[in-house]
Amino acid sequence: MKTYEALVRTDTDPELSGLVERIRLLKERHHAIILAHNYQIGEVQDVADLIGDSLELARYAASTEADVIVFCGVHFMAETAKILNPSRKVLVPDLKAGCPMSDMITPEEVDRLRRENPGAVVVTYVNSPASVKAKSDICCTSANAVRIVSSIPEDKPVIFIPDQFLGDFVQRATGRKLVLFEGFCPTHMRIMATDIDRAREEHPEAFVIAHPECQPEVARKADVVSSTSRMATAVRENPARKVVVGTELGMIYRLQKENPDKEFIPACTSCDCANMKVNSLEKILWALEDMAPEIELPETILHNARKALDRMIEMS
Ligand code: 13P
Ligand code: SF4
Repeated sequence: MKTYEALVRTDTDPELSGLVERIRLLKERHHAIILAHNYQIGEVQDVADLIGDSLELARYAASTEADVIVFCGVHFMAETAKILNPSRKVLVPDLKAGCPMSDMITPEEVDRLRRENPGAVVVTYVNSPASVKAKSDICCTSANAVRIVSSIPEDKPVIFIPDQFLGDFVQRATGRKLVLFEGFCPTHMRIMATDIDRAREEHPEAFVIAHPECQPEVARKADVVSSTSRMATAVRENPARKVVVGTELGMIYRLQKENPDKEFIPACTSCDCANMKVNSLEKILWALEDMAPEIELPETILHNARKALDRMIEMS
């Protein structure tokens, strides 16, 4: 069975500590910081200056004084950092770290939805390309989607893109009907309601957490549905010794590290985002050596996408 242990190398590996030291020296030389999403492999999380969910990482990137941001996550997250702080150099260890959900939506689809829903406010989940954010009114993450949608006057129709399941979660939380797009996360899609039923049967005392990208039948069966960082808080605050984790497997590394006395059970052992796993210590080192690959965006996209992201940051 594949668990979080399979995703980390032992820290007794001398090659690993050599890499960590070389990264530290280059970080100092270039006045760089390393930001890592909660799903990154353990050794990448361990070398990061900040580990967080999309919102925390975006806020930190927006205000950092560092000259260089090495963003360990997926492409849209690094783009978000660049849009919010365009004078910084944003490096990604591997340009191939994309997000299939983000690739499901295009600027043309936004135009079509606006034509079909005149006067609607377009709320765009950050898991989207910069070109789509540039056509949106306001962005959101899983941590603030409910608050952002609630802030929109009741008489305004809302188009919510691209994640239909986060959209469904927001609909249930706000009681508002949204115009949804049919995007989804192929990784979270793998968790089935029967996985939660089985886990509850096997571990009746467990606390069950799930991400709002899960299918609604899964989300409805969880005790807490939240962003990845709020999951970490919920687990810390809940007395249960066993936790069933309904999200991407990388999350378990952070949870286990912060709660060594608790047992974490993946709701589904194939809930593994390959894109989140392409970053490594070697690639971080090479990025710092070469000052590449770098996120670059056309000026108009930077400018327009920033408006939608700034509105989100102001409300968070
Ligand atoms: P969070 O913002 O909750 O960390 O989620 C990001 C993501 O891509 C989940 O699949
Ligand atoms: Fe995208 Fe899903 Fe991977 Fe998150 S887990 S980066 S939404 S494919």
